[in-house]
Amino acid sequence: MINIGILGLGTVGTGVVELLENNRKVIKQRLGEEVNVKKILVRDLSKKRTPYADGKLTVQADDILDDEQINIVVEVLGGEEPALSYIKKALQNKKHVVTANKEVISKHGKELFELAEKSGVGLYFEASVGGGIPIIRPMKHCLAANRILRISGILNGTTNYILTQMQEKRRNFEDALREAQRLGYAESDPSDDIKGFDAARKLAILSSIAFNTRITPDKVYVEGIENIELEDIKYAGELGYTVKLVASARKVGKSEVEVLVAPTMLSKNHPLSAVRDVYNAILVEGDAVGEVMFFGQGAGKMPTASAVVADIMDAAREGKRRIYCTCYDELKVIDVGSSTSR
Ligand code: NDP
Ligand code: HSE
Repeated sequence: MINIGILGLGTVGTGVVELLENNRKVIKQRLGEEVNVKKILVRDLSKKRTPYADGKLTVQADDILDDEQINIVVEVLGGEEPALSYIKKALQNKKHVVTANKEVISKHGKELFELAEKSGVGLYFEASVGGGIPIIRPMKHCLAANRILRISGILNGTTNYILTQMQEKRRNFEDALREAQRLGYAESDPSDDIKGFDAARKLAILSSIAFNTRITPDKVYVEGIENIELEDIKYAGELGYTVKLVASARKVGKSEVEVLVAPTMLSKNHPLSAVRDVYNAILVEGDAVGEVMFFGQGAGKMPTASAVVADIMDAAREGKRRIYCTCYDELKVIDVGSSTSR
Protein backbone atom coordinates (compact mmCIF):
# COMPACT_ATOMS: atom_id res chain seq x y z
CA MET A 1 0.00 0.00 0.00
CA ILE A 2 1.22 3.51 -0.89
CA ASN A 3 0.46 6.10 1.79
CA ILE A 4 0.02 9.67 0.68
CA GLY A 5 -0.48 12.94 2.54
CA ILE A 6 -2.38 15.83 0.97
CA LEU A 7 -1.68 19.48 1.79
CA GLY A 8 -4.99 21.28 1.12
CA LEU A 9 -8.60 20.15 0.76
CA GLY A 10 -10.20 22.86 -1.39
CA THR A 11 -11.43 22.45 -4.97
CA VAL A 12 -8.49 20.33 -6.18
CA GLY A 13 -7.73 18.47 -2.93
CA THR A 14 -11.37 17.38 -2.65
CA GLY A 15 -11.34 16.24 -6.29
CA VAL A 16 -8.19 14.18 -5.62
CA VAL A 17 -9.68 12.47 -2.54
CA GLU A 18 -12.93 11.73 -4.40
CA LEU A 19 -11.24 10.46 -7.56
CA LEU A 20 -8.97 8.13 -5.57
CA GLU A 21 -12.09 6.74 -3.90
CA ASN A 22 -14.38 6.61 -6.98
CA ASN A 23 -11.75 4.90 -9.18
CA ARG A 24 -10.10 2.87 -6.42
CA LYS A 25 -10.44 -0.42 -8.29
CA VAL A 26 -9.07 0.74 -11.64
CA ILE A 27 -6.21 2.62 -9.95
CA LYS A 28 -5.27 -0.48 -7.97
CA GLN A 29 -5.41 -2.61 -11.13
CA ARG A 30 -3.14 -0.26 -13.04
CA LEU A 31 -0.72 0.31 -10.18
CA GLY A 32 -0.73 -3.12 -8.59
CA GLU A 33 -1.33 -1.67 -5.15
CA GLU A 34 -3.69 0.58 -3.20
CA VAL A 35 -3.24 4.31 -2.73
CA ASN A 36 -4.23 5.26 0.80
CA VAL A 37 -4.82 8.88 1.84
CA LYS A 38 -3.33 8.88 5.34
CA LYS A 39 -3.57 12.55 6.35
CA ILE A 40 -4.83 15.84 4.94
CA LEU A 41 -3.71 19.32 5.97
CA VAL A 42 -6.35 22.09 6.25
CA ARG A 43 -6.58 25.46 8.01
CA ASP A 44 -10.07 25.20 9.42
CA LEU A 45 -11.21 21.98 11.08
CA SER A 46 -14.81 23.17 11.43
CA LYS A 47 -15.59 23.36 7.65
CA LYS A 48 -17.90 20.75 6.12
CA ARG A 49 -15.80 18.36 3.99
CA THR A 50 -16.15 15.32 1.76
CA PRO A 51 -16.97 12.28 3.94
CA TYR A 52 -13.90 10.52 2.47
CA ALA A 53 -11.74 12.89 4.54
CA ASP A 54 -13.30 11.85 7.86
CA GLY A 55 -10.72 11.14 10.55
CA LYS A 56 -7.80 12.26 8.34
CA LEU A 57 -7.63 16.01 8.89
CA THR A 58 -4.81 17.82 10.63
CA VAL A 59 -3.76 21.46 10.99
CA GLN A 60 -0.09 20.53 11.53
CA ALA A 61 1.89 20.20 8.28
CA ASP A 62 4.60 18.22 10.10
CA ASP A 63 2.08 15.45 10.80
CA ILE A 64 2.46 14.76 7.06
CA LEU A 65 5.97 16.00 6.29
CA ASP A 66 7.59 14.04 9.15
CA ASP A 67 5.47 10.88 8.83
CA GLU A 68 7.86 8.12 7.76
CA GLN A 69 5.00 5.99 6.41
CA ILE A 70 3.99 8.68 3.91
CA ASN A 71 5.83 8.20 0.60
CA ILE A 72 4.12 10.88 -1.50
CA VAL A 73 3.12 14.42 -0.54
CA VAL A 74 0.49 16.17 -2.69
CA GLU A 75 0.62 19.97 -2.45
CA VAL A 76 -2.68 21.63 -3.42
CA LEU A 77 -2.67 24.61 -1.05
CA GLY A 78 -1.89 27.29 -3.64
CA GLY A 79 0.17 30.47 -3.19
CA GLU A 80 3.91 30.81 -2.74
CA GLU A 81 4.21 30.32 1.03
CA PRO A 82 3.90 28.12 3.00
CA ALA A 83 3.58 25.83 -0.06
CA LEU A 84 7.22 26.34 -1.08
CA SER A 85 8.62 25.57 2.39
CA TYR A 86 6.42 22.48 2.71
CA ILE A 87 7.50 21.16 -0.70
CA LYS A 88 11.16 21.71 0.23
CA LYS A 89 10.76 19.89 3.52
CA ALA A 90 8.94 16.97 1.86
CA LEU A 91 11.73 16.63 -0.73
CA GLN A 92 14.42 16.88 1.96
CA ASN A 93 12.61 14.10 3.82
CA LYS A 94 12.87 11.99 0.64
CA LYS A 95 9.20 12.03 -0.26
CA HIS A 96 8.00 12.33 -3.84
CA VAL A 97 6.04 15.54 -4.33
CA VAL A 98 3.07 16.12 -6.62
CA THR A 99 1.93 19.71 -7.00
CA ALA A 100 -0.60 21.75 -9.00
CA ASN A 101 1.11 24.98 -7.97
CA LYS A 102 2.24 26.95 -11.02
CA GLU A 103 3.36 29.90 -8.91
CA VAL A 104 5.86 27.78 -6.99
CA ILE A 105 7.03 25.76 -10.03
CA SER A 106 7.43 28.79 -12.31
CA LYS A 107 9.34 30.83 -9.72
CA HIS A 108 11.28 28.16 -7.82
CA GLY A 109 11.28 25.12 -10.14
CA LYS A 110 15.06 25.06 -10.69
CA GLU A 111 15.92 24.97 -6.99
CA LEU A 112 13.21 22.37 -6.31
CA PHE A 113 14.24 20.05 -9.16
CA GLU A 114 17.83 20.18 -7.91
CA LEU A 115 16.66 19.37 -4.40
CA ALA A 116 14.51 16.48 -5.67
CA GLU A 117 17.46 15.07 -7.61
CA LYS A 118 19.74 15.34 -4.60
CA SER A 119 17.17 13.48 -2.48
CA GLY A 120 16.57 10.84 -5.17
CA VAL A 121 12.83 11.54 -5.41
CA GLY A 122 10.48 12.95 -8.05
CA LEU A 123 8.70 16.30 -8.36
CA TYR A 124 5.57 16.07 -10.53
CA PHE A 125 3.57 19.05 -11.79
CA GLU A 126 1.28 17.96 -14.66
CA ALA A 127 -1.72 19.82 -13.17
CA SER A 128 0.16 23.13 -12.99
CA VAL A 129 -0.57 23.86 -16.67
CA GLY A 130 -3.83 23.23 -18.50
CA GLY A 131 -5.78 21.59 -15.63
CA GLY A 132 -6.81 18.18 -17.00
CA ILE A 133 -4.97 18.51 -20.33
CA PRO A 134 -1.93 16.26 -20.65
CA ILE A 135 0.75 18.78 -21.65
CA ILE A 136 3.83 18.56 -19.39
CA ARG A 137 4.56 14.90 -20.13
CA PRO A 138 3.85 15.23 -23.88
CA MET A 139 6.17 18.25 -24.03
CA LYS A 140 8.91 16.49 -22.04
CA HIS A 141 8.60 13.06 -23.62
CA CYS A 142 6.50 12.74 -26.78
CA LEU A 143 7.90 15.90 -28.39
CA ALA A 144 11.43 15.48 -27.01
CA ALA A 145 12.97 14.89 -30.46
CA ASN A 146 11.76 18.25 -31.79
CA ARG A 147 13.17 21.71 -31.74
CA ILE A 148 10.12 23.65 -30.58
CA LEU A 149 9.54 26.75 -32.68
CA ARG A 150 6.41 28.17 -31.14
CA ILE A 151 3.74 27.68 -28.47
CA SER A 152 0.49 29.58 -28.38
CA GLY A 153 -2.54 28.91 -26.34
CA ILE A 154 -5.36 29.72 -23.99
CA LEU A 155 -3.90 28.85 -20.60
CA ASN A 156 -6.41 30.27 -18.14
CA GLY A 157 -9.89 28.83 -17.65
CA THR A 158 -11.29 31.69 -15.56
CA THR A 159 -10.58 34.41 -18.12
CA ASN A 160 -11.72 32.24 -21.01
CA TYR A 161 -14.95 31.56 -19.10
CA ILE A 162 -15.46 35.28 -18.47
CA LEU A 163 -14.77 36.27 -22.11
CA THR A 164 -17.07 33.52 -23.44
CA GLN A 165 -19.90 34.57 -21.12
CA MET A 166 -19.46 38.22 -22.09
CA GLN A 167 -19.47 37.35 -25.79
CA GLU A 168 -22.25 34.77 -25.90
CA LYS A 169 -24.55 35.78 -23.02
CA ARG A 170 -23.76 39.51 -22.83
CA ARG A 171 -23.04 38.91 -19.15
CA ASN A 172 -21.02 41.62 -17.44
CA PHE A 173 -17.46 41.02 -16.29
CA GLU A 174 -18.16 40.96 -12.53
CA ASP A 175 -21.06 38.50 -12.85
CA ALA A 176 -19.05 36.13 -15.00
CA LEU A 177 -16.09 36.32 -12.59
CA ARG A 178 -18.33 35.52 -9.61
CA GLU A 179 -19.65 32.46 -11.47
CA ALA A 180 -16.10 31.31 -12.33
CA GLN A 181 -15.25 31.59 -8.61
CA ARG A 182 -18.37 29.65 -7.63
CA LEU A 183 -17.40 26.89 -10.08
CA GLY A 184 -13.96 26.60 -8.45
CA TYR A 185 -11.98 27.83 -11.48
CA ALA A 186 -10.47 31.03 -10.07
CA GLU A 187 -7.35 31.42 -7.94
CA SER A 188 -7.93 32.42 -4.29
CA ASP A 189 -6.89 35.92 -5.41
CA PRO A 190 -8.71 36.15 -8.78
CA SER A 191 -6.61 39.12 -9.88
CA ASP A 192 -3.94 36.48 -10.63
CA ASP A 193 -6.33 35.23 -13.32
CA ILE A 194 -7.74 38.45 -14.71
CA LYS A 195 -4.45 40.35 -14.77
CA GLY A 196 -2.83 37.52 -16.73
CA PHE A 197 -0.30 36.46 -14.04
CA ASP A 198 -1.60 32.89 -13.86
CA ALA A 199 -1.29 32.46 -17.64
CA ALA A 200 2.20 34.02 -17.50
CA ARG A 201 3.30 31.48 -14.87
CA LYS A 202 2.00 28.63 -17.02
CA LEU A 203 3.69 30.05 -20.11
CA ALA A 204 6.95 30.35 -18.15
CA ILE A 205 6.73 26.64 -17.23
CA LEU A 206 5.90 25.53 -20.78
CA SER A 207 8.48 27.68 -22.52
CA SER A 208 11.21 26.59 -20.08
CA ILE A 209 10.52 23.00 -21.11
CA ALA A 210 10.03 23.79 -24.79
CA PHE A 211 13.19 25.87 -25.24
CA ASN A 212 15.30 23.99 -22.71
CA THR A 213 16.05 27.14 -20.75
CA ARG A 214 14.87 28.92 -17.63
CA ILE A 215 12.12 31.46 -18.10
CA THR A 216 10.61 32.95 -14.97
CA PRO A 217 7.22 34.74 -14.94
CA ASP A 218 8.83 38.19 -14.52
CA LYS A 219 10.33 37.77 -18.02
CA VAL A 220 6.87 37.41 -19.59
CA TYR A 221 5.21 40.54 -21.00
CA VAL A 222 1.70 40.50 -19.45
CA GLU A 223 -1.56 42.28 -20.16
CA GLY A 224 -4.75 41.00 -18.55
CA ILE A 225 -8.42 41.30 -19.43
CA GLU A 226 -9.41 43.65 -16.62
CA ASN A 227 -10.04 46.58 -18.96
CA ILE A 228 -12.10 44.69 -21.52
CA GLU A 229 -15.70 45.80 -21.70
CA LEU A 230 -18.82 44.32 -23.26
CA GLU A 231 -18.66 46.96 -25.99
CA ASP A 232 -15.13 45.86 -27.03
CA ILE A 233 -16.28 42.27 -27.39
CA LYS A 234 -19.38 43.34 -29.31
CA TYR A 235 -17.39 45.44 -31.83
CA ALA A 236 -14.78 42.71 -32.26
CA GLY A 237 -17.62 40.26 -32.99
CA GLU A 238 -19.12 42.59 -35.60
CA LEU A 239 -15.74 42.67 -37.36
CA GLY A 240 -15.57 38.85 -37.33
CA TYR A 241 -13.19 38.46 -34.38
CA THR A 242 -13.26 36.72 -30.99
CA VAL A 243 -11.33 38.21 -28.04
CA LYS A 244 -9.16 35.67 -26.18
CA LEU A 245 -6.38 35.92 -23.61
CA VAL A 246 -3.57 34.36 -25.64
CA ALA A 247 -0.24 33.22 -24.24
CA SER A 248 2.51 32.81 -26.80
CA ALA A 249 6.18 32.00 -26.92
CA ARG A 250 8.44 31.74 -29.96
CA LYS A 251 12.07 31.32 -30.72
CA VAL A 252 13.58 34.40 -32.35
CA GLY A 253 16.87 33.69 -34.09
CA LYS A 254 19.26 31.32 -32.35
CA SER A 255 19.39 32.71 -28.84
CA GLU A 256 16.25 34.69 -28.09
CA VAL A 257 12.67 33.90 -27.11
CA GLU A 258 9.65 36.16 -27.04
CA VAL A 259 7.10 35.36 -24.32
CA LEU A 260 3.87 37.26 -23.88
CA VAL A 261 0.32 37.08 -22.57
CA ALA A 262 -2.22 39.55 -23.95
CA PRO A 263 -5.85 39.87 -25.00
CA THR A 264 -5.88 39.17 -28.71
CA MET A 265 -8.47 39.49 -31.49
CA LEU A 266 -8.61 36.15 -33.29
CA SER A 267 -10.41 35.67 -36.57
CA LYS A 268 -13.34 33.29 -36.21
CA ASN A 269 -11.57 30.55 -38.20
CA HIS A 270 -8.47 30.57 -35.97
CA PRO A 271 -8.31 27.21 -34.07
CA LEU A 272 -8.16 28.97 -30.68
CA SER A 273 -11.24 31.10 -31.31
CA ALA A 274 -13.56 28.09 -30.91
CA VAL A 275 -12.19 27.29 -27.42
CA ARG A 276 -15.03 28.22 -25.05
CA ASP A 277 -15.70 28.59 -21.33
CA VAL A 278 -13.28 26.76 -19.00
CA TYR A 279 -11.61 24.92 -21.88
CA ASN A 280 -7.95 25.60 -22.66
CA ALA A 281 -5.99 24.74 -25.79
CA ILE A 282 -2.30 24.76 -26.56
CA LEU A 283 -0.83 24.78 -30.05
CA VAL A 284 2.76 23.58 -30.25
CA GLU A 285 4.88 23.73 -33.38
CA GLY A 286 7.92 21.48 -33.59
CA ASP A 287 10.38 21.23 -36.47
CA ALA A 288 9.66 17.53 -37.01
CA VAL A 289 6.07 17.05 -35.87
CA GLY A 290 4.67 20.26 -37.35
CA GLU A 291 1.65 21.59 -35.43
CA VAL A 292 -0.05 19.68 -32.62
CA MET A 293 -2.92 20.90 -30.50
CA PHE A 294 -3.86 19.92 -26.93
CA PHE A 295 -7.39 20.66 -25.78
CA GLY A 296 -9.51 20.07 -22.67
CA GLN A 297 -10.84 21.54 -19.44
CA GLY A 298 -8.20 23.89 -18.08
CA ALA A 299 -9.55 24.17 -14.53
CA GLY A 300 -12.12 22.66 -12.18
CA LYS A 301 -12.28 19.97 -9.54
CA MET A 302 -12.31 16.66 -11.41
CA PRO A 303 -10.31 17.57 -14.56
CA THR A 304 -7.51 18.88 -12.34
CA ALA A 305 -7.77 15.87 -10.03
CA SER A 306 -7.33 13.66 -13.12
CA ALA A 307 -3.87 15.17 -13.70
CA VAL A 308 -2.89 15.13 -10.01
CA VAL A 309 -3.90 11.49 -9.49
CA ALA A 310 -2.01 10.44 -12.65
CA ASP A 311 1.08 12.11 -11.13
CA ILE A 312 0.48 10.28 -7.83
CA MET A 313 0.38 7.01 -9.78
CA ASP A 314 3.60 7.88 -11.61
CA ALA A 315 5.29 8.77 -8.33
CA ALA A 316 4.10 5.46 -6.86
CA ARG A 317 5.61 3.54 -9.82
CA GLU A 318 8.94 5.33 -9.51
CA GLY A 319 11.65 3.13 -8.10
CA LYS A 320 9.69 0.04 -8.98
CA ARG A 321 9.89 0.69 -12.71
CA ARG A 322 6.47 -0.90 -12.97
CA ILE A 323 4.70 0.19 -16.13
CA TYR A 324 1.52 -1.84 -16.24
CA CYS A 325 -0.01 -4.25 -13.84
CA THR A 326 -0.93 -7.62 -15.27
CA CYS A 327 -4.37 -7.95 -13.69
CA TYR A 328 -7.21 -7.23 -16.11
CA ASP A 329 -10.98 -7.11 -16.10
CA GLU A 330 -12.47 -9.92 -18.18
CA LEU A 331 -14.60 -7.89 -20.58
CA LYS A 332 -16.89 -9.41 -23.19
CA VAL A 333 -16.45 -7.88 -26.65
CA ILE A 334 -19.77 -6.80 -28.15
CA ASP A 335 -20.54 -8.43 -31.48
CA VAL A 336 -21.29 -5.60 -33.91
CA GLY A 337 -21.32 -7.81 -37.01
CA SER A 338 -18.65 -8.60 -39.54
CA SER A 339 -16.07 -5.98 -40.43
CA THR A 340 -13.46 -5.66 -43.13
CA SER A 341 -10.68 -4.51 -40.81
CA ARG A 342 -8.39 -7.44 -40.11
P1 NDP B 1 -8.63 26.26 -2.72
O1 NDP B 1 -8.48 27.67 -2.24
O2 NDP B 1 -9.96 25.77 -3.13
O3 NDP B 1 -8.09 25.26 -1.56
C1 NDP B 1 -6.94 25.50 -0.84
C2 NDP B 1 -6.88 24.50 0.31
O4 NDP B 1 -5.65 24.65 0.99
C3 NDP B 1 -7.97 24.67 1.36
O5 NDP B 1 -8.41 23.42 1.81
C4 NDP B 1 -7.27 25.41 2.52
O6 NDP B 1 -7.73 25.05 3.80
C5 NDP B 1 -5.88 24.88 2.38
N1 NDP B 1 -4.88 25.85 2.82
C6 NDP B 1 -4.51 27.01 2.22
N2 NDP B 1 -3.52 27.60 2.91
C7 NDP B 1 -3.26 26.81 3.97
C8 NDP B 1 -2.35 26.87 5.05
N3 NDP B 1 -1.49 27.88 5.19
N4 NDP B 1 -2.35 25.86 5.96
C9 NDP B 1 -3.19 24.83 5.84
N5 NDP B 1 -4.09 24.71 4.83
C10 NDP B 1 -4.13 25.69 3.92
O7 NDP B 1 -7.57 26.09 -3.90
P2 NDP B 1 -7.69 25.14 -5.17
O8 NDP B 1 -7.97 23.77 -4.74
O9 NDP B 1 -8.54 25.78 -6.20
O10 NDP B 1 -6.18 25.24 -5.76
C11 NDP B 1 -5.12 24.55 -5.14
C12 NDP B 1 -3.89 24.65 -6.05
O11 NDP B 1 -4.18 24.03 -7.31
C13 NDP B 1 -3.44 26.08 -6.40
O12 NDP B 1 -2.03 26.08 -6.54
C14 NDP B 1 -4.09 26.32 -7.77
O13 NDP B 1 -3.42 27.28 -8.53
C15 NDP B 1 -3.94 24.95 -8.38
N6 NDP B 1 -4.87 24.65 -9.45
C16 NDP B 1 -6.21 24.89 -9.27
C17 NDP B 1 -7.11 24.54 -10.27
C18 NDP B 1 -8.57 24.78 -10.10
O14 NDP B 1 -9.31 24.53 -11.06
N7 NDP B 1 -9.05 25.24 -8.95
C19 NDP B 1 -6.65 23.95 -11.53
C20 NDP B 1 -5.22 23.72 -11.61
C21 NDP B 1 -4.37 24.07 -10.60
P3 NDP B 1 -9.23 25.35 4.32
O15 NDP B 1 -10.12 24.47 3.49
O16 NDP B 1 -9.23 24.96 5.76
O17 NDP B 1 -9.46 26.81 4.06
N1 HSE C 1 -7.26 29.70 -11.98
C1 HSE C 1 -6.76 28.78 -12.94
C2 HSE C 1 -7.53 28.95 -14.24
C3 HSE C 1 -6.88 27.38 -12.44
O1 HSE C 1 -8.60 29.56 -14.21
O2 HSE C 1 -7.06 28.50 -15.29
C4 HSE C 1 -6.23 26.35 -13.34
O3 HSE C 1 -4.84 26.47 -13.32
